[in-house]
Amino acid sequence: MRSFLAAALALLACACSPSVKEQKAEEQRQASAAPKVAPILNAPDAKDIHSYARPAEARVTHVALDLRTDFEAKRIGGTATLDVQAAPGAKEIVLDTKGLEIEEVTDAEGRTLAFRLGASDPILGAPLIIALGNSRQIHIRYRSGPDAGALQWLTPEQTAGKKKPFLFSQGESILNRSWIPTQDSPGIRQTWEARIVVPEGLKAVMSGDKLTPDGEAVSPTEGGGRAFRFRMDKPVAPYLIAIAVGDIGFQPLGKRTGIYAEPATLKAAAWEFADTEKMVDAAEALYGPYRWGRYDILVLPPAFPFGGMENPTLTFATPTAIAGDRSLVSLIAHELAHSWSGNLVTNATWADFWLNEGFTTYFQSRIMEKLYGTEATNREIALGWDDLQAAIKEAGGPGAPGTKLHLDLKGGDPDSAMADIAYEKGAAFLRTVERTVGRERFDAYLRSYFDRHAFQPMTASVFLADIRANLVKGDKALEQSLRLDEWVYQPGIPTNVAPPPAEAFAAVDRASASYAGGAAPETVPFAKWSTSERLRFLNRLPRQLSRERLDTLDRAFRLSQSGNSEVLFAWLKLAIPNHYDPAVPAVEHFLTTQGRRKFVLPLFKALLAEGDWGRPLAQRIYAKARPTYHPVTSSSVDEAMGG
Ligand code: BES
Ligand code: ZN
Repeated sequence: MRSFLAAALALLACACSPSVKEQKAEEQRQASAAPKVAPILNAPDAKDIHSYARPAEARVTHVALDLRTDFEAKRIGGTATLDVQAAPGAKEIVLDTKGLEIEEVTDAEGRTLAFRLGASDPILGAPLIIALGNSRQIHIRYRSGPDAGALQWLTPEQTAGKKKPFLFSQGESILNRSWIPTQDSPGIRQTWEARIVVPEGLKAVMSGDKLTPDGEAVSPTEGGGRAFRFRMDKPVAPYLIAIAVGDIGFQPLGKRTGIYAEPATLKAAAWEFADTEKMVDAAEALYGPYRWGRYDILVLPPAFPFGGMENPTLTFATPTAIAGDRSLVSLIAHELAHSWSGNLVTNATWADFWLNEGFTTYFQSRIMEKLYGTEATNREIALGWDDLQAAIKEAGGPGAPGTKLHLDLKGGDPDSAMADIAYEKGAAFLRTVERTVGRERFDAYLRSYFDRHAFQPMTASVFLADIRANLVKGDKALEQSLRLDEWVYQPGIPTNVAPPPAEAFAAVDRASASYAGGAAPETVPFAKWSTSERLRFLNRLPRQLSRERLDTLDRAFRLSQSGNSEVLFAWLKLAIPNHYDPAVPAVEHFLTTQGRRKFVLPLFKALLAEGDWGRPLAQRIYAKARPTYHPVTSSSVDEAMGG
């Protein structure tokens, strides 16, 4: 009765003042249309200075790509259809682009939508501003520019098989805007789907569910080739959309894991990464269910600029991790761990890159410990500690602002700011919390953290509030001993840091000192050592060694011929400052046969630091190597070479 009365009164009110009724309807319409921005994006530290998007006004929720690769022109193009949520009164939507050639923008009915490209910034690219009208779906016809920063187009000679071309993308941090017109900010999660047409004889893979593993023939009237379709139905940060096209085979590893690689690399890769399924099990036992379906690894041609990239369902990995003895598989543990820290809970801005990489480096060692035990893992942790000390030195010492976890990027290139600090200081922070509260309690906290924030962005301030609410819980003594704010916002390493494992390298360090003092190589049990021990031995030798000490070392342990990329790198870092000529062919070979920035950039820098001996070498080798590098690597080396 009462509700009838209320309804009647409401009707009456509406009848009396139709404007109220209209207003209500309009309010309702707008409320349901308002963009559902992740609440965390309201945090004071959630503003992403590396994106032009204004998600509170209008945001992309879904991207549907229909693209064709053109290996001759080195371009990818077609249409991107974006689903949009917009606030009441929003007139336009702002997307990120870099070098894209926009041909036409239309709405769902095919009507033209006005658009303009704003001024282009060398790092951020240009905003694409589209008049929305009432449209909540927009079609963009476009193609990538000739120098798309995310893409590398390899000639057949640059592949393992030497017969077919290859294409791959690298989206992190802000490169995907060079081939996808969308809001390229890690806080703006989007579902996506794609149809990719490639030349007959090539296969496309992407970082989502593969709906057509073998592709479908496209009729000649539609341009021919094969179409591959993909779908990611979980909202992801747009930097995680990735593609590769080439002569790609597949070999299963476990029930939900497998290897994609060029046929020439497939067998070695599958042997090297045979423990992948066990790693997924170990990770789940630590921090909760793996939520992405399959976990496959794509081993790329050697030009891939990183060790690994955590593209969801399909980690991209360098072939330089294939050492032949499974000694570099922590890389897989690392990329897998990103399925939680990074892909599930994602840094909202690149200023909090440590929330991705520091958590992942900690998580990686926990996976390694479960599979290979504490001793081997402690050695890797101790190597990470050495890297941290080197990174602090490189940043300018423990007082330098670059040693903070939460960074002030001031609009600079997020990629160039990313030193080992985020990885190793971040991991040391979490190890310190673990030691302070105990492993069991910390694990329970981390597991709940991933559950509570799954598929959400994260910032430093929100993390600190979360750990206070759910771990510290008002315990004043604990709050004091953790020094949370100091870890996140101050430079250097707080004194409460959990020290690195003490005994990890005692014997190795003794061998290193005695070899430097003149001991015979037979006293160094190099052959019996693990890769970690070999690396520590080389890294602990004095930076200046006599020609005799270097010769003896190289001959005894065949360092210049090492097939282990990390060992070779450690050796060359020692050989170069000593102007050790016999290693120059190895330097040249290494720099011209792989393009991993972590190896390439420091070696060029080391050569450049050696004046008349090194600079001409650097220039000669770079002239040959540059065309083989991904833009990520060549732009960094360009900078080091002085433009
Ligand atoms: N997400 C990173 C790679 C990355 C970092 C891409 C910054 C773009 C900008 C990836 O997870 C990573 O950390 N890779 C490491 C390997 C790892 C074992 C430390 C690499 O590439 O060396
Ligand atoms: Zn990482």
